[in-house]
Parts: sequence; structure tokens; C-alpha cells
Amino acid sequence: MIDALDDARFWNRVARKYATDTIKDMAGYDRTIARTRQLLRPSDTVMEVGCGTGTTALKLAPGVSRLIASDISSEMIAIAREKAEGQSCRNVAFRNGSASHPDGPGGVHDAVLAFNLLHLVPDRSATLAEAYRLLKPGGLFISKTPCLSEMNPLIRVALPVMRLLGKAPTVSFFAAAGIEAEIARAGFTVEARERHGTGSKDIRIFIVARKPEAV
Ligand SMILES: C[S@@+](CC[C@H](N)C(=O)[O-])C[C@H]1O[C@@H](n2cnc3c(N)ncnc32)[C@H](O)[C@@H]1O
Repeated sequence: MIDALDDARFWNRVARKYATDTIKDMAGYDRTIARTRQLLRPSDTVMEVGCGTGTTALKLAPGVSRLIASDISSEMIAIAREKAEGQSCRNVAFRNGSASHPDGPGGVHDAVLAFNLLHLVPDRSATLAEAYRLLKPGGLFISKTPCLSEMNPLIRVALPVMRLLGKAPTVSFFAAAGIEAEIARAGFTVEARERHGTGSKDIRIFIVARKPEAV
């Protein structure tokens, strides 16, 4: 719990700067958006956890019926709401909340999205269990996650030091096979694993996983 509060403070502090950062691989990001749009239907009710400043939610919302997007940082949510107002987007609701303790009834969403989040949550198994709970049978859990074990090993030393200095959040190190196995252990059937990056090396794994129809 202390970790989660620390992390919320970290993300609150960096939110305004994060909102002005440019996406490093825009073509790769566009691929992820296009692929996610293909997976969603106009009648879908969708939940995004760890939505940040709402950029992705606002891009996906026109293709679905309703999108609820949440984030542990109240400052990220404030920015997301400002953007939604500027775009007159009516079918998105932004909420402040943790991915491992989301509010709301289970079995109601057609898709749950988690982009650039699973390496950051202190309790990944609870986050995956909640994504499973929120979904209707047959619903999709769609995630894109940096696999930090695929980076230069020096990052294992650098990131904890940066965290101590307040310059990085808590992170977990795993490889693509590891996060895929965790998603499967949470009860999902993994249907696709993809890399959308356009550079020479992409450490982000995009995984499409389905909650079984009959549970
Ligand atoms: C790297 S940003 C990614 C934002 C957005 N999903 C994107 O792809 O641009 C990570 C976001 O996760 C949020 N976050 C971190 N830990 C969280 C948690 N336990 N529950 C919900 N959100 C969390 C942070 O506040 C931050 O906005």
C-alpha cells in the first residue's frame, strides 16, 4: 500500500511534464492503436487501467459504446479530463483509482486495456485478477508492456537508484514469456503476441488474451 501511495505521488509530480513528452516511436504507437481498434466493436463497453493523460482512451472512444479510463494519479486524471473537454468527447469517463483495486461490478466489460502499466504495478497478480473479474465471459484483456529484462542489464542498477532519488517509479523486471505466462495463470487464453515497434529493437510486447466463455 505504501508503494502504491508513493507511486501515485511520483506520477502526480511528473504528470504535467509527461503530458508534454512526445511519443518516441509514433508509427509503432499508431500500429497499436490501429490493432486495438480492430479488436474492439462499436457496441463494446471498455475499461482502461493506468490510462495516464487519456491520449489512448480518447483515440479509441469513438469506436466503442462507452469507455471508462482510470489511473492511480489524480493529476493524470485531471489532465485527461481537460483533454476530453477540449475534444467534446462524451462517451469517456475518467476516474482516479488503482488497477489492483478498481471500483465497479464484475463481468460487465467487453475489453480491459492496460498499456505501459503491468511493469509498474506493485501487485501484478491482483491487477490481472481484477482485469479478469471486470470482463464478461469471452471478453478481451489487451495489454502492451515494456519487458525491462530485454534492456541493457545496467538498467537493473540504474532504475532502483533513480527510484531512491525520486526520479523513477517502482518497476518490475520480466521478459515477454514471463508476462505472457502470468496472464495465462490468471485464467486468460493468450490469442496473440505482437511487437509493433518500428525501430531496430522493441521491448514492448502487445498481448491479446481472452477470458474463456464458459467459466
Ligand atoms: C507509463 S504511464 C502509461 C500511461 C498510458 N497508459 C500510456 O500508455 O501512455 C503509466 C501510468 O500508470 C499509472 N499507474 C501506475 N501505477 C498504477 C496503479 N497501480 N494503478 C493504476 N494506475 C497506475 C501512472 O499514474 C501512469 O499514468
